Amino acid sequence: VEKKSPGPLSVRVRVPATSANLGPGFDVLGLAVGLFDEIRVTFRPKGHRPSLRVSAEGPGSADIPSDATNLAYRAMRRLFQLAGKPFPSVEIQFTVRLPVAGGLGSSSAAIVGGLVAANAALKDRFSVDDLIETATSLEGHPDNVLPALVGGLCAGMVTEKGVTFVSWKDASLARDLRAVVCTPNLKVPTERARRLLPARVDRKDAVFNAAHVALFLSAIKEKRYDLLGEAMADRLHQPYRARLVPGLMDVIASARRAGAYGAALSGAGPTVLALAPPEKAAASARSMDAAFQRHGFRARSMILRIELRGARIVR
Ligand code: HSE
Repeated sequence: VEKKSPGPLSVRVRVPATSANLGPGFDVLGLAVGLFDEIRVTFRPKGHRPSLRVSAEGPGSADIPSDATNLAYRAMRRLFQLAGKPFPSVEIQFTVRLPVAGGLGSSSAAIVGGLVAANAALKDRFSVDDLIETATSLEGHPDNVLPALVGGLCAGMVTEKGVTFVSWKDASLARDLRAVVCTPNLKVPTERARRLLPARVDRKDAVFNAAHVALFLSAIKEKRYDLLGEAMADRLHQPYRARLVPGLMDVIASARRAGAYGAALSGAGPTVLALAPPEKAAASARSMDAAFQRHGFRARSMILRIELRGARIVR
């Protein structure tokens, strides 16, 4: 008796943007915010030659590779490989709202979207923890992929036992804070922004950052938002990256003058993230845009909610 081969399976995944580092938490801290990429994958399991078709729409769509270097495709392949299953023919459709190489986790969104879609096709064989491990190994650090997968504010690290993390998803985060993200018309590929960083750091700077990460997490937990201005200071990456993002320190200072609690480079930049009380978010956005303009850039700000849920499958 011949088994009927299964028909195509279509999965649509919505993945939040993420802002990594939050100042001092280089490669550790990350926050999910309410801007979403969508990826729709159609798997054609049998009777089709393995093939790949990629299409993209939305503001960042021109930057999405349509060949095997596509990150969502690579992530899906990796998961099928881990499952020991032959890779099917796939068609991937992206709706891209996150700026590519913009500092809001576009590459993590592609990886996470691919993994969640592939896991659905594999009948949820892998746990969220498994997906976190795979996403972190593909991305190299957990600070964007974690909040993209689980939502909220996350602190994650790679230990001998794998990725260890905590996530903070209290409703107060979404109620008390807005993420004001200001993106200048600049592209900063993460790789380039990482090459600029020194291999060794001064002990004083290491202590400074450790203290500031502790302060940041305590300030959030205790709702001492007045401490965020200090807590979001950094000495491990921003000082070096400021030359890729001219005006960075001025944009941060402008956000704070306009009433934001604190601000920092978002991921590797060039987006700058400010955490502001809801009633000061619009003024912070205007002030950050104006600061980038003074340095010769066009910038676009968005006021986003903190997103307490991670990637999910949508109908
Ligand atoms: N932690 C990473 C960095 C985030 O700052 O390079 C961007 O991938």
